[in-house]
Amino acid sequence: MMGYGPNRQGLPASFSSNGQRIFLTGTSQSGNPITSRIGYMQMANGATSCADCHLQDGRGGSWRTAMGSFKVPNITYPVLTSKQEHEDGGRKHPPYTEATIKRAITQGVDPAGQPLQSPMPRWSMSNKDLTDLVEYLKNLR
Ligand code: HEC
Repeated sequence: MMGYGPNRQGLPASFSSNGQRIFLTGTSQSGNPITSRIGYMQMANGATSCADCHLQDGRGGSWRTAMGSFKVPNITYPVLTSKQEHEDGGRKHPPYTEATIKRAITQGVDPAGQPLQSPMPRWSMSNKDLTDLVEYLKNLR
């Protein structure tokens, strides 16, 4: 376990969709592994989830850990896709689209192609899981 952010108390007993499950647990109902990498650290299926850092409501926050403190941006859909400026470290970029959100998750770059800073992981998951996850992100407001 990475232990970033809050723990996973309050997870629902069952999930409303595969996308919700991936967001909250970092695992797919298909059983296909979802892995991620932060720098040189390779993380196994389920070792960390989006909600671990971005919180269950996707609104992020500021975390302080043994490894230092960091800010996690709000990734609710209206914030990602609106033109409003993001508060994260002055990266300026056009609004996200579905395609550039997927690219941010897997390749760790924003719509302008600028790298997302650690500890945002680079994720490996099937195209179906990635699509389900982005569909779920649309529910976060
Ligand atoms: C270990 C903590 C951590 C985890 C886990 C994590 N993120 Fe992030 N994420 C971050 C941080 C920190 C940033 C900001 C990076 C920056 O500003 O350069 C970020 C940035 C992003 C961005 C870009 C937002 C922007 O404003 O440009 C998206 C989209 C995103 N994360 C989605 C996800 C999704 C989806 C997952 C789960 C599959 C996830 N993240 C898991 C920490 C995390």
